Amino acid sequence: MLLQIPAVLSKTEVARCRQVIDAAEWADGNATSGSQSALAKRNQQLPEGSPAARQVGEAVLAALGRSATFISAALPLKVFPPLFNRYAGGEEFKTHVDNAIRQLRGSDFRIRSDLSATLFLAEPEEYDGGELTIEDTFGAQQVKLPAGHLVLYPASSLHHVTPVTRGARVASFFWIQSMVRSDAHRRLLFELDTTIQDLGAERGQSDDAVVRLTGIYHNLLRDWAEC
Ligand code: NI
Repeated sequence: MLLQIPAVLSKTEVARCRQVIDAAEWADGNATSGSQSALAKRNQQLPEGSPAARQVGEAVLAALGRSATFISAALPLKVFPPLFNRYAGGEEFKTHVDNAIRQLRGSDFRIRSDLSATLFLAEPEEYDGGELTIEDTFGAQQVKLPAGHLVLYPASSLHHVTPVTRGARVASFFWIQSMVRSDAHRRLLFELDTTIQDLGAERGQSDDAVVRLTGIYHNLLRDWAEC
């Protein structure tokens, strides 16, 4: 499932984040790459664990925690501390798949990457190119969203970022280990939850059908989740 979640950060929050990360020291993006993706990747990153990455990363995590859509769609068990990248001057990231396992340097924190996320921190008008292109079962999807918006997609999909030929594309990216490993199961749970919310708004939360469907949701989650 490829899902766009608007306004995870407000424009004010984006501006605050940008203030911190624009003033920080950036490094070659290949610091976090596997050997194969190092060949494909040309960009800059905030060093993992740097004060700016930590400070803004915490703001991003807090915003995710407030997003009902993110929680419902990702069913997160663990979120990798957000990283930050910048593409300019023709930089790009050619087609690759993200590593299955991510270990936080210098710690025993480790996740299986079920979902990949990109949170856009520059407005689309600020740069040319820089489309995140994700290959899914319906063909290649091009994603370039307003600042503060997030895209969530299966970490198993091939994807690339097209060259940025004007301006700078700044984003946060991270991975999520979901309580529900299967993308198909997560999608069903998300659609069921959304339907229950709609029905509950229409009929009231104590409506018999709403209560029964909520029971089905939780029993499916009980069957499919690891936590
Ligand atoms: Ni990637």
